[in-house]
Amino acid sequence: MNAEVQESKASITVAGKNLDVPVMKGTLGPDVIDIRTLYAKQDVFTYDPGFTSTAACESKITFIDGDKGELLHRGYPIDQLAEKSHYLEVCYLLLYGELPSRAAMEDFESRVSHHTMLHEQMLNFYRGFRRDAHPMAVVCGVVGAMSAFYHDSTDISDPWQREVATIRLIAKLPTIVAYAFKYANGQPFVYPRNDLDYASNFLHMCFAVPCEEYKVSPILATAMDRIFTLHADHEQNASTSTVRLAGSSGANPFACIAAGVACLWGPAHGGANQACLEMLREIGSVERIPEYIARAKDKDDPFRLMGFGHRVYKNTDPRATVLKKSADEVLELLGVEDNPLLQVAKELEHTALNDPYFIEKKLFPNVDFYSGIILEAMGFPTSMFTPIFALSRTVGWIAQWKEMVEDPSQRIGRPRQLYTGAAHRDYVDVDDR
Ligand code: SDX
Repeated sequence: MNAEVQESKASITVAGKNLDVPVMKGTLGPDVIDIRTLYAKQDVFTYDPGFTSTAACESKITFIDGDKGELLHRGYPIDQLAEKSHYLEVCYLLLYGELPSRAAMEDFESRVSHHTMLHEQMLNFYRGFRRDAHPMAVVCGVVGAMSAFYHDSTDISDPWQREVATIRLIAKLPTIVAYAFKYANGQPFVYPRNDLDYASNFLHMCFAVPCEEYKVSPILATAMDRIFTLHADHEQNASTSTVRLAGSSGANPFACIAAGVACLWGPAHGGANQACLEMLREIGSVERIPEYIARAKDKDDPFRLMGFGHRVYKNTDPRATVLKKSADEVLELLGVEDNPLLQVAKELEHTALNDPYFIEKKLFPNVDFYSGIILEAMGFPTSMFTPIFALSRTVGWIAQWKEMVEDPSQRIGRPRQLYTGAAHRDYVDVDDR
């Protein structure tokens, strides 16, 4: 890796002892103060719960400018990729760093297509779950179980095995997620088809039944592909950082991605799209919106407007801007513009965007607000929203994992702490307590 160490330095003085540390400059974004020698030289830790001011790694994959509302994948703006590219081409870009030639794209698409089936024995694994299990529990379990079925791509020191694991994960996640959907519905699994594009194949595996032909709507396939593209990667978010930390121990790629799935499930992260639709259902009518806006402002009320706000974006989430356009197209196609749930969503968005509290706190609809609306309109139950997010984000996780594993300077991640517990004390026998 080759971030430039610039001439300027930072001075850190603790208890009168001064330490000069280098300042590193990347291509874009804030400079970073390299504090790797701080503990050894000054015997102190930095303290940054939630890592608001901490760069945990160097990366070349994705850049986010929270103030400008800009998201770049290998330098290409997300709105251009959403408009002109497609998910598998964005996968190639994230993994290998450049947009593919036509021949390279055809080869990549063929390798992915020919890895979409699951090991037939894995279908029995599904049958161990209750039918009403949350699909995220199923997806997390099945992805972790991949290391029990694909032993020949778990040696992370072998570049070929890393590549095979990467292709298998990108290829099989749609099948794994679609099968979780079918299992929950009590319907038979629908096998992947190599004559369909990635998004159409996923929709076909979800909504086709053996009794009749299922024609995938091109507009829904485009909206699905756009949702995949807009969720593909997002710098060092909570689940990606989880994958990197798991990978830093040398764990196999399937175990690392399963850890990412588990972290994404949280309602503050990838679970927000499900939580957002459940919130809209709870609000129920446009008339009740003021009550919930008041609750969101009430410091004593833990209620948050799900699908609003972001740790990094402080003006607009560029993905939401693109998805809002897709939402309008899908709703119009499906003739559900007057769906009461979606009316509440549109009115809530309008109210929040014009409320001084939300303007001051820089709270606006994020990617999860609009993705939930589209997925609802497409006929997915809310429980499937986060598994679809996990499917989309698998390429980001595995690209970041690959970058970390291939970085010769990487070491096991092992943060320290500020300890405020009991000082040393001797054991007391039970009769003396
Ligand atoms: C994703 O990191 C990523 O990149 C994530 C993601 C990705 O692609 O990987 O973009 C995907 O996770 C999008 C975010 C989805 N989550 C939600 O929609 C859940 C609702 N949002 C909040 O939980 C919150 O906004 C977060 C978690 C997204 C951001 O949390 P922060 O940056 O830690 O902000 P905060 O919780 O400290 O809030 C700052 C202030 C607080 O008020 P004060 O304490 O300063 O007075 O804003 C308020 C909060 O009370 N606030 C909200 C709010 N979000 C923040 N108030 C009401 N409703 C909200 N949604």
